[in-house]
Amino acid sequence: MSRKPFYVTTPIYYVNDVPHIGHAYTTIAADVMTRYRRMCGFDTFFLTGTDEHGQKIQRAAAAKGLTAQELADRTVVNFQELWKALGVSNDDFIRTTEERHRKVVQHIFATLLAKGDIYKGSYEGWYCVPCETYVPESQMGEAKTCPDCGRKLEMMTEESYFFRMSRYAEPLLAYYEANGEAILPKGRCNEILSFLRGGLRDQSISRTTISWGIPVPGDEKHVVYVWFDALINYLAAVGYPEENAPWQKYWPVVHHLVGKDIIRFHSVVWPAMLLALGVNPPKLVFAHGWWTVEGEKMSKSKGNVVDPFEMVELYGRDSFRYFLLREVPFGLDGDFSELALVQRRNADLANDLGNLLNRTLQMVERYCGGKIPVAGAETEQERDLAELVAATRRDVDSCMDRYAFDEALKNIWVLVGRGNKYIDDTMPWKLGKEENAERLGTVLNTLCRVLRTVACLVAPFIPDSAARMMDQLGLNAESLSGGQGIPEWTEDLSGVSVHRGDVLFPRIDLKEWEAEKADREARKGMLPDPGDHEPEIEVEQFRSCEFRVASVLAVEPVPKADKLYKLELDLGYERRTIVSGIREFYAPEELVGRKIIVICNLKPAKLRGVLSNGMLLAAETADGKGLALLTVDRDIAPGSRIH
Ligand code: MSP
Repeated sequence: MSRKPFYVTTPIYYVNDVPHIGHAYTTIAADVMTRYRRMCGFDTFFLTGTDEHGQKIQRAAAAKGLTAQELADRTVVNFQELWKALGVSNDDFIRTTEERHRKVVQHIFATLLAKGDIYKGSYEGWYCVPCETYVPESQMGEAKTCPDCGRKLEMMTEESYFFRMSRYAEPLLAYYEANGEAILPKGRCNEILSFLRGGLRDQSISRTTISWGIPVPGDEKHVVYVWFDALINYLAAVGYPEENAPWQKYWPVVHHLVGKDIIRFHSVVWPAMLLALGVNPPKLVFAHGWWTVEGEKMSKSKGNVVDPFEMVELYGRDSFRYFLLREVPFGLDGDFSELALVQRRNADLANDLGNLLNRTLQMVERYCGGKIPVAGAETEQERDLAELVAATRRDVDSCMDRYAFDEALKNIWVLVGRGNKYIDDTMPWKLGKEENAERLGTVLNTLCRVLRTVACLVAPFIPDSAARMMDQLGLNAESLSGGQGIPEWTEDLSGVSVHRGDVLFPRIDLKEWEAEKADREARKGMLPDPGDHEPEIEVEQFRSCEFRVASVLAVEPVPKADKLYKLELDLGYERRTIVSGIREFYAPEELVGRKIIVICNLKPAKLRGVLSNGMLLAAETADGKGLALLTVDRDIAPGSRIH
């Protein structure tokens, strides 16, 4: 039997920014769904990528003195590396600057132009000349000024191609009325329906004011507007419009996961483009909510942007993945805090899940020589547990169908909790002491089978930990990523040798964590420690160094030494000569008359034949290329001692 196809996408991320928790969220959600479907035997395809054209990128690049392509090539790596760090198992990564994408955008543009769904017209709007951008009337206010730079806007008209979107309001309404599940959550679907009922306006889809984009075929002074370009990635990556290409099986079942801010592009503009092409609209667009951070909107200026790399480094990717999907129902807004993450990790992962595994394996080791025992007769307790296992599998499946990740996890944790309670109720340690081998065998065998089911169910969410659970249970971890599905409850495990290892999630001590976090926060923005420190000294040792203020009387180059100057110094009570390697950094006239700091009791040394009687103090400049002299910031008499 051929496997059912499943295709899931994330938005393609702009490369003018570093990846943050919002990007990580959608990609992790798509990964969890893909892993679940893959485990259940679907033929899955998971796409993510980057959106590299448009004015934002062009401008960000210009600000850094780079070409747009150079900026994109540098920053795309951040996303690719993040997906590795988060254990994301995408099948493809598309960049809109790739040739395979450009070809499809131009093909679609030409097709819709030939069909009359694209036409040339003129675009009129309020334009900010310095920012080179049109400002929607809703954002310009009474004074008609730019919301970014505050300058006066001008009415501008330019030639532009338009997509005849107005044609598709009715067909789209009919489509959504017949397919009530095509936009989730439901509330979002209602929003889109009422928007469509207001009718649609044709969309300007080309620009002549910017150059960083895909040229309009046959009219190259225009580039394709970045959203029209970007949406097409979903088709381009699966080989549209080629015959016998993967898009034919995957497109009918595509799910787009997006943030709530970009739902109109995905549920109105994109489906209208697809209808115009004669291709089905997405099977599902799921709009998730936004994260705030400790109650506040995340922003660079507040300095509260959550760096997913840092979270992975501090807590491990599984804790981060688990937290994001467990904390907030997918579809609603949520609040991120590290404390909440640590608390969840301690309670759910360390206490509940980690303990169930650890307690069980300890007893298998202690009472059964490390081999899972044969199960004896079942009682009501085992039958109840078996029923719960079956119900959990069903419930998780229906939650996953609805992208209710948090509910799926809650269901799994009910089973974990029942597993722990089963241990408390059956008291296997007593059975061990009483040498009640049959009952002990039943209990430990049952627990290992509960753990096997749990490992499979949590695998899409916390893949590394699930694999470690399987390893410790003596089972093949690879089966988690294959398509065999979750083993049946009755499939026996007796005789398997377990390998208890390190605990899955060491508990984080809250007191230590608070101190460590305060320290981390204090260091934010600091440079790394250069590490070239000297051993501690006594105050006497410091006092034995005789530092004094000296006034520079004369400076001359040392012959045949291009780095050295000979300096005549006035110490008030005496004159002396020192030689110093500061010739590249100061002209003699910049030095004469300066008050500098010298160490006076340094053993004299001959440098290129000149006796240097002391040394001046200087430090490297910030770029590491120059030197700056230490001087005094008040009028100090030459010879003054420095304490
Ligand atoms: N390039 C477009 C998408 C084109 S898709 C054809 C884009 N890129 S983006 O990088 O700005 O944003 C990508 C996603 O990040 C969006 O889905 C957006 O909702 C999401 N998030 C940005 N900040 C977020 C939070 N604070 N919380 C959750 N998601 C957020 O838009």
